[in-house]
Amino acid sequence: MAATGNEHRGTKAFYVSTPIYYVNDAPHLGHAYTTVAGDVLSRWHRQRGEKVWYLTGTDEHGQKIMRTAEAHGVTPQEWCDKLVEEAWQPLWKHLEIANDDFIRTTQPRHTARVQEFVQSLYDKGEIYQGGYEGPYCVGCEEYKTPGELLDGAGEYAGQKLCPIHKRPVEMLKEENYFFKLSEYGPKLLEHYERNPGFIQPESARNEVVNFVRQGLQDLSISRSTFDWGIRIPWDDKHVIYVWVDALLNYATAVGYGADQEKFEQTFPADVHLVGKDILRFHAVIWPAMLMANGLPLPGKVVANGWLMVGGEKMSKSNLTGISPHQLTDHFGVDAYRWYFLRAIQFGQDGSFSWEDFQARYTSELANDFGNLASRVAAMVGRYFDGVLPQGPAAGPAEQAVADGLAKAAREADERIGERLDFAGGIAAVFDFIKQVNGYLTEQEPWKVAKDASPEGQARLAAILYTAAESLRATAVLLNPVMPATCEKLWASLGAEPHLGPLAEQRVADAGTWGRLPAGARVTKGEALFPRLEEPARA
Ligand code: MSP
Repeated sequence: MAATGNEHRGTKAFYVSTPIYYVNDAPHLGHAYTTVAGDVLSRWHRQRGEKVWYLTGTDEHGQKIMRTAEAHGVTPQEWCDKLVEEAWQPLWKHLEIANDDFIRTTQPRHTARVQEFVQSLYDKGEIYQGGYEGPYCVGCEEYKTPGELLDGAGEYAGQKLCPIHKRPVEMLKEENYFFKLSEYGPKLLEHYERNPGFIQPESARNEVVNFVRQGLQDLSISRSTFDWGIRIPWDDKHVIYVWVDALLNYATAVGYGADQEKFEQTFPADVHLVGKDILRFHAVIWPAMLMANGLPLPGKVVANGWLMVGGEKMSKSNLTGISPHQLTDHFGVDAYRWYFLRAIQFGQDGSFSWEDFQARYTSELANDFGNLASRVAAMVGRYFDGVLPQGPAAGPAEQAVADGLAKAAREADERIGERLDFAGGIAAVFDFIKQVNGYLTEQEPWKVAKDASPEGQARLAAILYTAAESLRATAVLLNPVMPATCEKLWASLGAEPHLGPLAEQRVADAGTWGRLPAGARVTKGEALFPRLEEPARA
């Protein structure tokens, strides 16, 4: 999928990453939410003509994975292989995720480079040996501070619980290696100050700044009570802490220590997409690790909110993880990709509701967008034998549509491409679709068609040209969100022979009026959004 044309040689790629996901279980809607957002962002930048690198993958070490594998009577590696091959990779394929690479932390390309990175920190005096005792949450794979724990009730009465997983923490006492994280507080604060956009949204930035201002503790970066991890190179009784291992995927996957040219053309990431639960790892520990090793810092870390069920974060450990297949079976893949970005302001939490999805599908996708496409194709077929007519004598009504398009295209680019405001960018395009529907209602081409005079026919041509040209632009602007649907629309407009493949259409040209030429062969294909079958619930 990556653009690899000569025009990109030597330039740095726009590099987008998702978190690498724990493979203790199959993916649910929450994981897919971040991955779809990253896919839309990278497709958008590809359509801007940029060289793009979109990375996702899996986090396979640590106690959580080890215990899950033990519980299933298989080795951790067997467990990971099975989950990656049978659940994670097939889901991304199903959801049309066009990632350029997929990193697994058990791959030698990763493990060897992680050892080198940690060794180099050790050689620089950034790592020392010490002891630590504290409450640990295996779900988070993180030591917690006593102050953030919750008091357990019911089956957990008398125990302290992790605030995220609502499960008891374990007291751990270990001789470990520590990274001198505490020394990086002032440098991190200075970086946040100089780069106000480094952590987004604003609420996430404030949380991190307050946290760092309180003073950082050194970070335990090794574990010695279990062995499912990458060995500490100078002391093989220890494995590297799973978060240090995992964060380094962003470097090892793009050639750190192995392919200098690729590394320089890709690293650092322009956008790390993360759920808000793992913001501190990415906005505090990761930049400090990079500073300690003299590597450049990422452009921004953008935290998305949580998909909630019954007021709780959707998760497998809370038994609320919903499989994306349950929704795509009913609504289709493109509507699924569209819905969560459309309905939830990126950065905020959002509740999933079947009823809301159903209502938006029907009104915005099927009625506003799908019907517009099929009506226009049907009328060009009926009145002009499927050949798009010249659109002469455009009047003020047509000019208003052209202006509306230019505005929608600008706004979508600014919101999706720059601000990661997916909901706002998609809304700009759907407001334009509403405008075109309103235009047709006012112009009543079905009545104008009865006027057989040359003026009447010219007027009809102008109206249908305006509507078809609007759909041309809509296909380009929605392609990153709904690629299969927009392909169908592109085919139905007969655009490809004149304008080339849809994925090669540039965002910057989308709002330029008059690109679809007269003579294009318009055909009425299958409905873009079929009527939903009842009953809806899975
Ligand atoms: N393995 C670590 C990440 C390492 S990155 C160097 C991890 N994995 S995870 O499988 O628990 O999932 C992480 C991400 O999945 C979250 O940060 C978020 O992006 C996404 N989500 C998981 N559950 C979610 C919701 N309920 N809602 C939205 N996103 C959620 O943490």
